[in-house]
Amino acid sequence: MQPPYAHNPVRSVPTGKRVLLIVGGGIAAYKTLSLVRLLATDGIETRCVLTRAGSEFVTPLSLQALSGHTVYQDLFSLTDEQEMGHIALSRSADLIVVCPGTANLLAKMASGLADDLASTLLLATDTPVLVAPAMNVRMWEHPATISNVALLRTRDVMLVGPDTGSMACGEFGPGRLAEPETIRDAIVEALSASAPTQILTGRHVLVTAGPTHEPLDPVRYIANRSSGQQGYAIAAALARLGARVTLVSGPTNLPSPPGLETIRVETALEMEAAVQASLPADAAICAAAVADWRVAHASDLKIKKKPGAAPPTLHLVPNPDILAGLSAPGPRRPSLVIGFAAETDNVENHALEKLKRKGCDWIIANDVSPGTNVMGGRENRVIILTHSNRDVWPLMSKTEVARRLADRIALCLTDKVPDGPQP
Ligand code: C5P
Repeated sequence: MQPPYAHNPVRSVPTGKRVLLIVGGGIAAYKTLSLVRLLATDGIETRCVLTRAGSEFVTPLSLQALSGHTVYQDLFSLTDEQEMGHIALSRSADLIVVCPGTANLLAKMASGLADDLASTLLLATDTPVLVAPAMNVRMWEHPATISNVALLRTRDVMLVGPDTGSMACGEFGPGRLAEPETIRDAIVEALSASAPTQILTGRHVLVTAGPTHEPLDPVRYIANRSSGQQGYAIAAALARLGARVTLVSGPTNLPSPPGLETIRVETALEMEAAVQASLPADAAICAAAVADWRVAHASDLKIKKKPGAAPPTLHLVPNPDILAGLSAPGPRRPSLVIGFAAETDNVENHALEKLKRKGCDWIIANDVSPGTNVMGGRENRVIILTHSNRDVWPLMSKTEVARRLADRIALCLTDKVPDGPQP
């Protein structure tokens, strides 16, 4: 569940925002009437699109009366097209909300179908989309819906709910539409995300990201599967909060995020030098997957295979621990130092041990075992561990992890939260 917007001082309550509400066909559609009223109370203007199935559950007249605007229903309506073309309609809002998000609508969104007004709008838009799913428990748990939802998450479609409880069909389980107040909170949170306060203006934040490459010779190197996505997203999210951000990145295929300084390095030694040269900083977030070892002496020439000879022996030496170095007490220590613990087993225990050993303030633990698809994937499930606290976040896109983490960092740096994450 999204945290209630009222408790997040980093995000201002938005004013003058518009929502395009797509009402799908489900018994829970009647709750959208309460939702429209709640949004109006918050000063958020709502225009409604009603699917054909949705109109079996609520009338356009009710939605029109509550929203104060024409309700759009037909892709080929001459009058609607004259008033507002469907492409313009899809871009007229700050946020598109699909509520209730039926299994059918989720499937259409996932596969890019555009065979009615609602699905065409969803395909034609570049506006953020929030879905409040509601359906029978079996439909929610069907592998088709599970994979549609997973796919939509990777495209940064936001979800609120569903809740678990008894359903109109008499069954019990996950699939109930979230309560209108919860959906309203998620809408305000999503609207605020696009208009964060510049709370970190004047602060300098250092972020490491990506893998390091440790050369064996001019053509070969030791590396790992880190894509850099999580670190880049964190750097970008902090820059959006007004921080001056220095991103020290190992080799990645990602473009440098706009609005911040990116220093590209290859090896752990180069990363450490760039980090030290970028100090002082108010906070350091070490998201890089730094190689633990490098070969003691990389060959200047390509190492040749010799027929019949044994393979070469690599003499490895440890790389400097950049995170531990930043965490060591001293005048140049950033006031907040955050590390990552990518683990394949016993994730939390290993992460806690790392938190103590490295001397940092928070550790972001994540499971990178092969089935999770976290390394190189677009989603992450993290646990934020501090010396006094523990916060488990659900599976979400790496950009959403970054946005939430940036908010936590901002609260900590501005003394609104003393020890980081609160339960
Ligand atoms: O020891 P381990 O590699 O598991 O620790 C992970 C954390 O330590 C990450 O935050 C990573 O960026 C950081 N690290 C580092 N320098 C190293 C090794 C890890 O900064 N040489």
